[in-house]
Amino acid sequence: MEKFKNFINGEWIEPISQKYFENISPANHLDIIGLFPDSDKEDVDLAVKIAKEAFKEWKLIPAPKRGEIIKKAGDIFTKRKKELARIMTREMGKPTFETEGDVQEAIDTAYYAASETRRLFGYTAPSELNNKMNMSFRVPVGVCGIITAWNFPVAVPSWKILPALASGNTVIYKPSKESPHSGVILAEILEEAGIPKGVFNLVLGKGSMGNLIVEHPDVNLIAFTGSTDIGTKIGEICGKMNKKCSLEMGGKNAQIILNDANLELAIEGAIWGAFGTTGQRCTATSRLIVEKGVYNQVLEMLKEKAEKLVLGDGLDPKTQVGPVIHDKSLQNCEKYVKIALEEGGRLICGGKRCIEGDLVKGSFFEPTIIADVTKDMTIFNEEIFGPILAVTKAENFEDAINLQNHCIYGLSSSIYTKNVNNAFRAIRDIEAGITYINAPTIGAEAHMPFGGIKGTGNGHREGGWTVFDIFTEWKTVYVDFSDHLQRAQIDNY
Ligand code: UN1
Repeated sequence: MEKFKNFINGEWIEPISQKYFENISPANHLDIIGLFPDSDKEDVDLAVKIAKEAFKEWKLIPAPKRGEIIKKAGDIFTKRKKELARIMTREMGKPTFETEGDVQEAIDTAYYAASETRRLFGYTAPSELNNKMNMSFRVPVGVCGIITAWNFPVAVPSWKILPALASGNTVIYKPSKESPHSGVILAEILEEAGIPKGVFNLVLGKGSMGNLIVEHPDVNLIAFTGSTDIGTKIGEICGKMNKKCSLEMGGKNAQIILNDANLELAIEGAIWGAFGTTGQRCTATSRLIVEKGVYNQVLEMLKEKAEKLVLGDGLDPKTQVGPVIHDKSLQNCEKYVKIALEEGGRLICGGKRCIEGDLVKGSFFEPTIIADVTKDMTIFNEEIFGPILAVTKAENFEDAINLQNHCIYGLSSSIYTKNVNNAFRAIRDIEAGITYINAPTIGAEAHMPFGGIKGTGNGHREGGWTVFDIFTEWKTVYVDFSDHLQRAQIDNY
């Protein structure tokens, strides 16, 4: 069986501990992808030491020159798109049309970040004194620890890694233990693109290894995507250490359907939002809030479409919905369905793990719809990360908005309506980082700010120009060419 390696200081090396873990395909538990380093403290210490040293030179390379390497990485992603998508599908399950989209998001990010290296604008402002000039510009932060989830094994790490490198930082990257092979390919691509030794380092391992990166005193910044539970703990550690930290965490995203919506369009959107990526996106639609005039009709239309979805191995072109990531996740889905029914929910379709045919080989769960969910029920409030949609009846527009905002998270949101006034009220009143009008809650584009409020994040936005606020610090410069001492706030008033 293939044994994979860490990428540290421009070289592929075995973990110092010599320990490895197995990664299996969620679509077929007998398919073992390989053995991946179960790295430990010594590996992390080595990678950080190397990255700290490499930072000294990398930060001095002109940003547009760094951009050339990022651009080249985009070209290689483009060339390897189909091959990479199959590797991603095999290890995390979603169908290849989705993993190809995932790689495309990395390509978009690479070209955007590369072009941004010619545009890392600062500000100048008039001085309050004569013969003095004020300016400010962005400088890199240092060594960045980047820790990501498995559901977007290439797009999400690229959102962080590529702008981090473009800004002049060096990187220690720890992918999820469920998607290490995608991490290896990402490192291969940066290596081929010509990233200098030590600037980008891949350290594979389990969750506890991520802690070692977070707690390392020479790691200056942490950028994390994952659960609110783990992210909050990371935030606490970074807070104590005065470390810059960007957290992208849970969601319980709702789509609203008003009486006047184009129902065909709204249902198509809900099905894609809820069951695309098997509901395993932080942006997934896990709540559907339907105005009472169309409630019953919506349930009928949803059931018809959900029951027709084709489940299977994501490598099969016929597959529309892949497996969930592992058996623990299957048990989690079962648990939430049970709680929902006990608390008064009505099962519309699905509700069980799949035990027929080839599906029994992997972790498959039926696309599930539960109706009559009220705002105090568990499935209205807790993130499941699986193919389960909770449907709630709303009295009117105001009730729908209140239900939407009754949530500890605030990542994505959506409303389907033809009423322009209600659409704009929703844009104003919905508490979320992202709001879609007449489109599902999933599908953020690489060049726009991405992130959420409340329990979803800690005030940062990845994507677009805003990601550079995470990966840079401001340096303010005053140039006094008066040739005498000028005292601000004193000599000029
Ligand atoms: C995630 O689930 O962590 O907007 C990211 C979307 C994708 C990104 C999802 N472009 O659904």
